[in-house]
Amino acid sequence: MKPTWIASAVLILLLLAALPLSFQLWPAPVPLAAAVDGGQRIGGPFELQGPDGRRVTEQSFEGQWLLVFFGFTRCADVCPTTLVQIAKLLDGLGEQGARLQPLFISLDPERDTPEVLAAYTRFFDERILGLTGSPEQIRQVADAYGVYVRKVPMGDTYMLDHTGSVYLMSPAGELVSLISPQRTAADAAREISAALAQAGNG
Ligand code: NI
Repeated sequence: MKPTWIASAVLILLLLAALPLSFQLWPAPVPLAAAVDGGQRIGGPFELQGPDGRRVTEQSFEGQWLLVFFGFTRCADVCPTTLVQIAKLLDGLGEQGARLQPLFISLDPERDTPEVLAAYTRFFDERILGLTGSPEQIRQVADAYGVYVRKVPMGDTYMLDHTGSVYLMSPAGELVSLISPQRTAADAAREISAALAQAGNG
């Protein structure tokens, strides 16, 4: 009896270990109902600071689709990789890309000043707009988007552990797609292109 029980337990553990992997390899987009935590409405009004220090709100982008990504300039992996993907994706979209405004919102407002952020986003693509703000403004927009962020001390400095998904928002401010960082730029561009075309004038 006992060896069978152990074998079953080992099998269950193996299945559980394989579960996150199978999700990453899943080719289909993440279903929104599953992706949106607890049915929270994603998005909404925000007030932030643009590269020139000017006030930027959701109303600054009227009629535009938004590609919203949260991170910080000292990020060593997810942020630079994702920004490279966003730049590629914009190229992949061609003329359609003009209807899309990519936003890189800093989760590290203490270190990411508008100047630091502008220099950083420009390095990846001129079309990506870096936004920062007061710690309160950043907390508000991160909460509105259900973004997870945690400070991780590293020696005398810190890193941030944070949500790596990219939010595709319609001009009406609705979440249309949550693009996982595992997706390729070409794959994400196809999905975004289809969403834009479906909404008309595509
Ligand atoms: Ni990052």
